Formats: sequence, C-alpha cells, structure tokens
Amino acid sequence: MAIYVSRELKQFHLQNANTSYILKVLPEKVSLGIKLPNGRIPEIPLPEGTLVNLYWGKKLPDGDMGYLMQSFNGAASFDSMEGRLPYEMPFHGVGYYGDAALKVKNAQGNDLVYLTYAGYDICKGKKPLKGLPATYVESDDEAETLVIYMEDKLTGLKAEFSYTVFAGSDAIARSVKLVNGAEDPLRVTRLPVASVPFYGKDFDVIHLHGAWARERAVERVPLTHAGARVESMRGASGHEENPFIALCRPGTDEFTGEAWAFNFIYSGSFLAEAEVHNSDNARMSIGMNPSVFEWLLEKGEEFQSPEVVMVYSDKGLNGMSDIYHKLYRTRLVRGEWRDKERPILINNWEATYFDFNTEKILKIAEKASAIGIELFVLDDGWFGVRNTDNCSLGDWVVNEDKLPGGLAPLAEKINSYGMKFGLWFEPEMISPNSDLYRAHPDWCLHIDGRKRTEQRQQLILDMSRRDVQDYVVEAVSGVLRSANIEYVKWDMNRNMTEYFSAKAAPERQMETQHRYMLGLYDVMERIVSAFPYILFESCSGGGGRFDAGMLYYMPQTWTSDDTDAMERLKIQYGTSYAYPTSAMGAHISAVPNHQTGRVTSMDVRGDVAMSGNFGFELDLGKLSEEDLAVAAKYVERVKKLRGILQKGTFTRIVSPFEGNYCSWQFVSEDAKQAILCAFRRLSEPASSGKRVYMKDLVPDAVYRDTETGKTYSGAELMYAGLPIRFPFPPKDYSSLVFVFEKV
Ligand code: DGJ
Repeated sequence: MAIYVSRELKQFHLQNANTSYILKVLPEKVSLGIKLPNGRIPEIPLPEGTLVNLYWGKKLPDGDMGYLMQSFNGAASFDSMEGRLPYEMPFHGVGYYGDAALKVKNAQGNDLVYLTYAGYDICKGKKPLKGLPATYVESDDEAETLVIYMEDKLTGLKAEFSYTVFAGSDAIARSVKLVNGAEDPLRVTRLPVASVPFYGKDFDVIHLHGAWARERAVERVPLTHAGARVESMRGASGHEENPFIALCRPGTDEFTGEAWAFNFIYSGSFLAEAEVHNSDNARMSIGMNPSVFEWLLEKGEEFQSPEVVMVYSDKGLNGMSDIYHKLYRTRLVRGEWRDKERPILINNWEATYFDFNTEKILKIAEKASAIGIELFVLDDGWFGVRNTDNCSLGDWVVNEDKLPGGLAPLAEKINSYGMKFGLWFEPEMISPNSDLYRAHPDWCLHIDGRKRTEQRQQLILDMSRRDVQDYVVEAVSGVLRSANIEYVKWDMNRNMTEYFSAKAAPERQMETQHRYMLGLYDVMERIVSAFPYILFESCSGGGGRFDAGMLYYMPQTWTSDDTDAMERLKIQYGTSYAYPTSAMGAHISAVPNHQTGRVTSMDVRGDVAMSGNFGFELDLGKLSEEDLAVAAKYVERVKKLRGILQKGTFTRIVSPFEGNYCSWQFVSEDAKQAILCAFRRLSEPASSGKRVYMKDLVPDAVYRDTETGKTYSGAELMYAGLPIRFPFPPKDYSSLVFVFEKV
C-alpha cells in the first residue's frame, strides 16, 4: 500500500497490493497532443487545478501517466474539449453533458460549480465518518488516507475528496465532504459520491435487482450508449435494486478477467449509473439519489457523504467479491459478534405467525433444544394487541394475554433449556392503531393535509426527529433490559412515500430522507453500543435493506423472506457478489414452502441453509421422525463446519442463473479444509454425469473426502473435476455436499 505524490507532475497515485488509482491536477492550459491539419497543436484553456482521473486498474509502477490525456482528445468534435476531460468529479457548465454531475445551487440561482485543486493531506490510518457507517482500521498501519482539497472560487463551495488504501485489501474507500465557505447559502442538489471515467466503452454492466422474496438477482447487460441506471427512491436501499454496480469486460467470468465495482455503504435511497458519452468513453457513478435528496449548506456548514467502497479485480467476479467479503467481515462489521461463531437459531415466524402463546413457544423451544439448537427467536406479535399486522407497532409493551408474566420468565425458561433467547422488533414503524400514534400523530413521516399512505397498514416514524429517536432508543432499551435477551431481529417492513417531516423547515424538507438515515444510524449506534453482547440481525421484509450500511451496526441480515431452497440458490448467489456469507441469515423452513408452494427434501434445504448463518423457521414438532433426524444432523454438521462456513473463502463455481445447476465452495483460512456444495434444480433423464471443478486448492496437496475416505490431489479436484452423481432414482431438487480435509 502506498500513496505516491509527485509535486512536479501534480499526480497522485494510490496503490495497494494489486491496484492503482491515479489522479492528476491539470495546469491552466492542457495540450492533448493532437496536431490539427493546419499544424496547430490546440490547447484547452482551463481554470488552473482541474482534477482528472487518469487510471483505475491493475497495479502500475509509479511514473508519469500524463500521456494518457491524449486519449481524451476531441479534435473533430462538435463538443468542447473541456467536456471530454476525464473529470474526477464531473460538473456541468464546461461542455460535459453526462448525467452524473455535482450540482450545487448558489445565490445567483444557478447550480454550476467548477472545483479546482487547493491542496492535499496524507495521513496514516483512516478517520471514522461522523454519524455514518464506514470501513475502519484497528491500527494506523493498516491504511493510508489521501484528502484532496478542492474549491469553487466563484461560489465559495469547498470540497474534500477522501481516499483510503488498505494494506490488507485491494479496496479503496472514498467519500466526499462539502463545505460552504461563502456568506450565502448553497444547496447541494446532486452528489455522485464516487464517479470514475473509463477509457472506452467495451464493458458489461452488472447489478443486483429484485423484489420482495426474490432479492439480488444478478443481471448482466452490455453497456450501450443508452447507459444503465440503478436506483432506489424508497428511503431504503430496497428489494428492487442493491447499492452495487459493476463494470466488467465482456469476457470476464467468475474466475478470470477484469471487473470494477462500487458498493455504497448506505441504507437509504441511492443512484448508480453507467454511461457512455459521445466520446465513446464510459463513466460509472454512485451516490445520493437527486430525486429525493437536497441539502442546504448555510455559511460554514458541511455535508459529509456516505462512503463508497471501490474494488478492482483482474481475477474475475469471484476476485471482486472476495475483496468485499474479507473487508466487510473484518473491517466493516464490528463488535463482539464480528469474529464469534454465530448461534444456530430457530425462529417461530413461519411456525406460528401471530398465533402463539407461552405454551406453544416453549414446545417449539424444547424440541429445538433437544436437537442442539442454540437460540430461540420470538418474532412479530409479542407486544401491544398485535394478533395480526394491523396494529400496535410503536407500543413495545409485552402482551401478557399471550405471554403471562412477560418476557423475563419466558427467557429464563428458554435459558433453562440451554438456549439463548432472542426477540423481534420493528422500531422504525408506527401503526395508526397504536397508543403511540394516538399520543403523537405527528411523529410519522407525512405531509399535513394529505392522506398518509399506509403500507402493511403502517406508517413510518420520523427518525429525523430527536424526540422520536430518543423514544425509540428508550423503548427498545427498556425491553432489552427487562429480560435476558441475547439476540435482536431489527425489522423494517415498508418503504417511504411521504418522506417529509413535521419538524423540518420548508427549505430543509428535501433533506428528510437522509436525515432519517442519520437519525436511524444514531439510534442503532446508541443501542448496539449499550448492549454489546447482543447479536443483532437486520431485516426488511426479508432482504429489503441488505446493504453495507446495516452491516456496520448489525453483523448479519435476514437475506430474504423466501426460504424455498431453489429460490435461495439464486438469492444467496447474487447476494454474495458484494456481501459475505457470514452476513446472510439462511433457514430451513417447512414444506410446502410458504412462498412458492414447492416441496424440497430436508437435505436440500439444509445444504442451502448451511451456506449462510444457519437456522430454522418451522415447528419442529410437525416434522416426521425421519426429517427431525435430518434436522439434528444439520445442527451437528453446522457446529463442526461453521468456522469455515463463516470465515472461509467463498467461491461461486456454477451460476443458478445460467442453467439447471448451481455450485459453490468454501475453503478454510488455513486451506486445510474445503467444502463443495452442488445443487441440481430439475432431474435430467439420460443425461451424463456432471463434473464440478473446485478452485484455490493446493495442487499437490492430498484432500480426503471425509465421508467416503477417498483421496484426491488438489490438482485432480481443480483440473479434472469431481464427478457429481445426484441420487438415483433421479428426482428434482437435489444437492450434494463434500467436505474435504487436507491429509
Ligand atoms: C418480515 C420479516 O422478513 C419476517 O421474517 C417476519 O419477521 C415478518 N416481517 C414479521 O412481521
């Protein structure tokens, strides 16, 4: 890891083990090195100090990269040459007509800025982003941070572009701070936090799209002049798109080729774009969504953006994911549970929905403890008068009709079975039919005089308000103090519609979505730091807020409400593009599956669920003796293997989006153990056997299949492949798991 600064060349070169990222400050006149037919070499007159991006890709030796500017010429163009420069932070008003552009409205009423270079700082380590989730370091030796100071001389806007390179990771973390250095107010109306120009347009775009119960499907399309736009305006990262976008070469696959990716450490609305300009050069950006974001900066005020983690890989898409997984698992997730083995849980939601009482719960818990399950989670319906989803959100008072004596004796009883006790909350919400709403009808996001749009018969608390934040902290903490609660599922079951606040001044209403996120992050910080022993799992109607922002506060996320094993193959495969398996909640649920009606075997459900944070979501009492034995087998297996399942290197091998098969593997940190999982969706009559080619083993090491005792060299498993023989007689929905140990 290094940051090279050449004062002479005015060049910054950020370098980590395999990546270079090179910026240059341009002088007042720039020649792009082209000779016109009349012999003239035109120069572009510029304000001194324009910052351009020369390169992001495979590591380069440090040297003068200024010659790359020649490739951005526009000699024959109708447009101005200034418009074609590879700006590090693009802005309009210079002939740049791309979509992603910083826009800040000034006292004159226009929104143009022109930022020029005003200096830099380099420091060891990485400073936290106040009030925002971000990657971190544990010692200053782990990273170096470059801050480039920029200013707009006309409007007084100042900006700090911050870049961190890590010693142990090929990621670059990037954020922007904007400061109003003028007398008059400025209004930020568009902020792409990371925006990188690329030479050429020969790329595919990858993004993760979906809906409730089918989150994060991998979509890959060629980048064309029509570009690609991926966004959420929902006030949450959302089921529909994830704050992740990547460009890769058309030939890039899971194992080889180049990929460049952005992941936004943010849980609210966002906009990610890939564009091709008329110069036939591309640009990829991610940042605040201008449709639902504005920020007023009074004199001296500043706006700190959330962080973007940029990853370049020349080892295919698995190489890209591996960089995200390792960084997020070790330097985004925090707290006691970061490195601890996660408990195997059972959740009563699909077993009982709202229809439970102490007796029913204890029956499920007792049965679970008998097969070694370690944590019982009581889901929705334990508070207020919530016997269906039309009431009581906000009234975090235990329903003693269902649970006489409250939570403490229930937790005690469950503890006496040798299990931890966990509890569901939906703290950001308020039901119109609740005591809280009757007392504080203005505490929800709304617009006076307009209908308050309900979704799932609920409204959203205005988390931008301090009084609401304090209420939520106190209400949740009070419950957490009232019983031995060691796990919390933090749910959030609707998105924003009227994203405005009764408390905000008119000129600040468009800040509400982001202020909500800042308020939520503050509440989460206060709660998770007050209860460090609690394992928190975030959730949003399944995986509607599966993002890096949440992972900073809560080390795991409920991946999807869809627990059907075949659907989960795709959901978990897609989620792994940016997020580690240690972040993904994955449970065995009942069949016919409640979301798809599909019937799969206990084994296939187990094999899929053990590839994430393993648990159950059913009434074990309703299982056949045979299925219960299989459930017990998985509990035992996961206890043995969870070290590698949570911390090993996860590699996707065969994509469920491309055919009938799916396969992935885990290799332990010390490379002594490897687990191969293979899945087949539909039976294929008269087909020949399949081979799966494992990855990243030691070629000349010997690996023993722990079930059959057969040994293979690493080379055999990787290059000749392992024949996958699914059970006979053939059936739909099969899986196989092989556990190898290095001899
Ligand atoms: C949505 C979650 O994803 C489910 O697991 C469950 O907790 C329900 N909410 C409860 O309302």
